[in-house]
Amino acid sequence: MKILVTGNMGYIGPSVIRQLRSSYPEAGIAGLDAGYFAHCLSADDMLPECRVDVQYFNDVRAVEMEMLRGIDAIIHLAGISNDPMGNKFEEMTLDINHRASITLAKNGKTAGVKAFVFASSCSIYGSADDQARTENAPLNPLTAYARSKVFTERDLKPLADEDFKVTCLRFSTACGMSERLRLDLVLNDFVAGAIASKRITILSDGTPWRPLINVKDMARALDWAISRDTKEGGEFLAVNVGSNEWNYQVKDLAEAVASVIPGVDVSINKDAQPDKRSYRVNFDLFKKLAPKHQPVFDLTTTISELKKGLEAMGFSDENFRNSKYIRLKVLTDLRNRDLLTERLEWTDGNKLGRKPKNE
Ligand SMILES: NC(=O)c1ccc[n+]([C@@H]2O[C@H](COP(=O)([O-])OP(=O)(O)OC[C@H]3O[C@@H](n4cnc5c(N)ncnc54)[C@H](O)[C@@H]3O)[C@@H](O)[C@H]2O)c1
Repeated sequence: MKILVTGNMGYIGPSVIRQLRSSYPEAGIAGLDAGYFAHCLSADDMLPECRVDVQYFNDVRAVEMEMLRGIDAIIHLAGISNDPMGNKFEEMTLDINHRASITLAKNGKTAGVKAFVFASSCSIYGSADDQARTENAPLNPLTAYARSKVFTERDLKPLADEDFKVTCLRFSTACGMSERLRLDLVLNDFVAGAIASKRITILSDGTPWRPLINVKDMARALDWAISRDTKEGGEFLAVNVGSNEWNYQVKDLAEAVASVIPGVDVSINKDAQPDKRSYRVNFDLFKKLAPKHQPVFDLTTTISELKKGLEAMGFSDENFRNSKYIRLKVLTDLRNRDLLTERLEWTDGNKLGRKPKNE
């Protein structure tokens, strides 16, 4: 088994590589990443990429056929990974997240790849908090980021057949510790605020619903997806990934953090404009299809794990919303320093930006 993981040098990637190493000890694992956030490590010990057999520093828009030959499964994580970046770099979000994903899948299929797993998102349901959405519910993407996921799912579907299994995992919002931590994710932000300043500042009025999932449980879902049986889910599958118990309102998340970390003041912005991105999600299908890969981490454990991780980092930055743990901030800095072009290619990249050699 040979597996290619794109976007492995981000937040989720290190957990995915660890998971694959333990589930498929004999597998050859390659990583492919432009390395935008390579320097945003949570600790100065071993580089997570030392766990892969091959690391390509490459733009996912310029993957060469040679890199795909002999690969059995692609786990496709590479992308512009949240709404704020999607708003600021809208055209590139569609270019990288949508167009490049489809080209990668098509070239993968031509090269003989058998399974393609795409990291989609529950944010495609948009404003949907009246009842929990199943996979058949109408999609209502409210942002460029969410639209890029919808377009990719749509265009992946016709590529699936008996030789090319496609799985779109519509992930809940991630949380938990990672070797490349992100603090622009709601629970991680709250724990960071609690540790650094004993304060949690909710930017909305606290009412939006969000399903959450621990990053290690995401890795287990990706593991399931590459070897899932198509008899039940079909050759193309789009499935919500998370658990019914993990649908929370943002204010409840803040209260949960305050109950684990005593002495924390929670402030809700009562004057905030309502956040339309509010969705509750139904995870019954995932439970039916992947009974052995259900989320195992609960909220309290995840908060404690984050607390421990941040304390081990000596974390105390009250201004963390402006730090290297915020993806938008890093990408914007790289652009402002002309290290990245308008197309988000490294200005003095080597292989990056090369056109793919299609066959
Ligand atoms: N974190 C979440 O809550 C969440 C939820 C649902 C879906 N997802 C999806 O999962 C994937 C990974 O998320 P993450 O939290 O690890 O994000 P991340 O931003 O930490 O990592 C994304 C990685 O993709 C790489 N990348 C971006 N553009 C690239 C390009 N043009 N060429 C090569 N590499 C490129 C980046 O360098 C980075 O290492 C993303 O596709 C994201 O949309 C994440």
